[in-house]
Amino acid sequence: MPGLRIDGYVIVSADGMLANADRVMPDQLKFEGDKKFFSAALDRADLIVHGRHSGEDQPNSPKRKRIVLTRKIAGLAPDPSNPKAILWNPAGAAFEAACDLAGVHSGTIAIIGGPYVFGMFMDRYDTFWLSLAPRVRLPGGEPCFPGVPEHSPQDILAAHGLRAGEVRILDAAEGVSVTPWRRAA
Ligand SMILES: NC(=O)c1ccc[n+]([C@@H]2O[C@H](COP(=O)([O-])OP(=O)(O)OC[C@H]3O[C@@H](n4cnc5c(N)ncnc54)[C@H](OP(=O)(O)O)[C@@H]3O)[C@@H](O)[C@H]2O)c1
Repeated sequence: MPGLRIDGYVIVSADGMLANADRVMPDQLKFEGDKKFFSAALDRADLIVHGRHSGEDQPNSPKRKRIVLTRKIAGLAPDPSNPKAILWNPAGAAFEAACDLAGVHSGTIAIIGGPYVFGMFMDRYDTFWLSLAPRVRLPGGEPCFPGVPEHSPQDILAAHGLRAGEVRILDAAEGVSVTPWRRAA
C-alpha cells in the first residue's frame, strides 16, 4: 500500500523466544529501556496490529488505533470493547480493507505480534526492530517467528530481504539492545 510504512517490534531471549512455555511474556523479558523505546515507537505509530493475546498494555494504549486478529468473527467488525479497535480475521477480509475500516490510509503501522502475525508481514516490513535480551533463555518457550528455533530470528529476517543496521543499547547492565532490520533498497 503506497503511503503506508510497516514496522515490526519484538523483544526476544537469546534462544529466540518471545514468551515462556506457558505462552506468557515473563518479567525476565521486561526491561525499562526496551519498554521506553517500544512505548515511544507506538506513540508515533498511526495504527497497531496484533493477535488477541499481544496487546501492549501501556498507559497510552487506549489512545491508539488498532487492528486485533481473531477467528471469532468472519471478516471485519468494530471491537465492542474498544472504540479505537477493529477486529480482523484475515481468512475473511484483506488487510487493506481492515486499514480502511480503521480509517488509516497513510503513515506508520506497527506490527507487535504474536508469532503468526509477525510471520504474515515478513515480506512487507520496511523495518523490523529486533530487541535482544542476550542473558535470558526460555527453554521450551514460544518462538518469536515461524521457523524459530530451527533458524535464528536474525536469519529469518535476512532471508526475507532485511539487513541489520546500527545496534542501539537499551540496557547496558543487562546487555539488552535493539537492531533495526531494514529492507534493502
Ligand atoms: N516479547 C515480545 O516482544 C512479545 C511480542 C508479542 C507477544 N508477546 C507475548 O507472546 C504471547 C503471544 O501469544 P499468542 O501466541 O497467543 O499469539 P497472539 O497472536 O497474540 O494471539 C493469538 C490469538 O490471536 C488470534 N489470531 C492469531 N493469528 C490469527 C489469524 N491468522 N487469524 C485469525 N486470528 C488470529 C486468535 O484469536 P482468537 O482466539 O480470538 O481467534 C489467536 O487465538 C503473549 O504472551 C504475548 O504477551 C511477546
